[in-house]
Amino acid sequence: MCGIVGYVGGRPAKDVLIGGLRRLEYRGYDSAGIAVVDDQNRLHVEKKEGKLANLEGALAESGDDFAGGTGIGHTRWATHGRPSDRNSHPHVAGRIAVVHNGIIENFASLRAELESDGRDFNSDTDTEVVAQLIDREVTGGATAGDFVASCRAVLARLEGAFTLVIADAQAPGTIVAGRRNTPLVLGRGEGEMFIGSDVAAFIDYTKEAVEVGQDTFAVITAGGYEVFPFLEGGAAESREFTIDWDLDAAEKGGYEYFMLKEIAEQPSAVADTLLGKLVDGRIVLDEQRLSDQELRDIDKVFIVACGSAYHSGLVAKYAIEHWTRIPCEVEIASEFRYRDPVLDRSTLVVAISQSGETADTLEAVRHAKSQKARVLAVCNTNGAQIPREADAVLYTHAGPEIGVASTKAYLAQIAANYLVGLALAQARGTKFPDEVSAEFHALEQMPELIGQVVERLDQVRQIARELADSKSVLFLGRHVGYPTALEGALKLKELAYMHAEGFPAGELKHGPIALIEEGLPVFVVMPPLHGRSLLHSKLISNIQEIKARGARTIIISAEGDEVVKPFADYLIEIPETTTLLQPLLSTIPYQAFAAEVAAARGYDVDKPRNLAKSVTVE
Ligand code: F6R
Repeated sequence: MCGIVGYVGGRPAKDVLIGGLRRLEYRGYDSAGIAVVDDQNRLHVEKKEGKLANLEGALAESGDDFAGGTGIGHTRWATHGRPSDRNSHPHVAGRIAVVHNGIIENFASLRAELESDGRDFNSDTDTEVVAQLIDREVTGGATAGDFVASCRAVLARLEGAFTLVIADAQAPGTIVAGRRNTPLVLGRGEGEMFIGSDVAAFIDYTKEAVEVGQDTFAVITAGGYEVFPFLEGGAAESREFTIDWDLDAAEKGGYEYFMLKEIAEQPSAVADTLLGKLVDGRIVLDEQRLSDQELRDIDKVFIVACGSAYHSGLVAKYAIEHWTRIPCEVEIASEFRYRDPVLDRSTLVVAISQSGETADTLEAVRHAKSQKARVLAVCNTNGAQIPREADAVLYTHAGPEIGVASTKAYLAQIAANYLVGLALAQARGTKFPDEVSAEFHALEQMPELIGQVVERLDQVRQIARELADSKSVLFLGRHVGYPTALEGALKLKELAYMHAEGFPAGELKHGPIALIEEGLPVFVVMPPLHGRSLLHSKLISNIQEIKARGARTIIISAEGDEVVKPFADYLIEIPETTTLLQPLLSTIPYQAFAAEVAAARGYDVDKPRNLAKSVTVE
């Protein structure tokens, strides 16, 4: 995530940048910083860990007026490197200052190259390599003296996803901004230009905006902008448009609630979580304080988590046991330490937490460590307490989740948990390297399919409005469809305050079937067609049992599943995939259903009653 801003024009850049960062703070609040270039070719930089208010305090105390009409700014959601003053943006090397949103995948090799060239680094970030590379180019490289050409040469060398905004002390009045796979939008004013991660950054000043295309960079001056490709033979793409949102809508990307925006962001949440995680055919974790031998010695896995994170763990169990042949138990974190689980140094405890601060999960981690177990954290918040105390960390890159109900962080957790399974299979040799790569590449296909499901949610919203007055809703599934049922029920309970329960479909006849009465809505996820399994026919039988008792069935099934159609009162089709990957698709209609029922009932979708985004008490 991260928010970036830029300005060139006649106003004091500092004020425009701080205003823009205030609007973008929802994109990350680990640190904030600005760099302003003045007319005497001086670079003024201030950056501070924590919320924007800390930066404002530091600016007030600095005694520097930051005079100048050219500047860049950043509000950070940490990815590489802990939140700290040192790792805050802008990153400066010589005359160059850079802010960045995204991940530079080849930063390690670029950093090694720069270090062997005698360059010293001031941070642990991937971003600093960009500042160092451009400074090296512009001061002594093939494009020496030419700021724009130096930026272009460096952008062409970068791998990964990035929006980069670059200022040069020797070029007041010019900013370069390039992008690949992360957002960048320009604002056009009268004799001034603005840059933002999204239009919220400059909506106070102008409604005239420009979208910058893929692998394209813009050269921005007070008089306007020009766009160029940064790859050899590429085309420069951009599109001018007029913003018709107000500020509130702009922050939510035009969606009515953050939750809807976050549902729509799920393709990139999963893609970013996978980015850079297969290197030379091997799965890599973000922080690894365990030796390969210690990983190989693992003979049991416990997953501990709460709420949705727990459900993501239940999904992961199927993959981890299948791929590694190690037993995997999934436990509600608040129960774990009170029942004296059997743990030792060959146990791996995987703690899953979006916030990384959930007290129940943190205490479970501490208990596991006190019993000498190894702990691996799957977390969305860089440098939070749980990853700090863990032996190994894999970050989900969903960006900040504002809606209290987890959506994009949940899908990102499933993807990350699967990477944990593959890392273990790789360490233990239960999968050949080419099998690990094949599983990874299958995961990499999912953002495209997730996008297709997100595109088609109008039908789900229509069903939600029809069923919004229901007293109760049941969710059924088998295999990974079972935790998906639990997640569907949780979403509906927490957002729409409606009674909802998830069951393994086969368990129904052992009691819960007594709940079925005329008209009761029952959701069922069908397994994919792929190698159609016994599960499929068993589920058809379960659906017949409930239909015979008057249930209204809402079936989520793979496109082309003709067998289930006659039994569906409502049919929601999702793309075909494998059984293990299906939760990355089948969960999405449940998220949209719960949000729409809540909205239809007049509830606050982003802030359901009695709940908090991170629960820091046991
Ligand atoms: C449900 C939800 C919660 C969280 C749970 C754990 O939509 O968001 O159930 O999943 O409170 O929170 P984290 O992942 O921050 O530990």
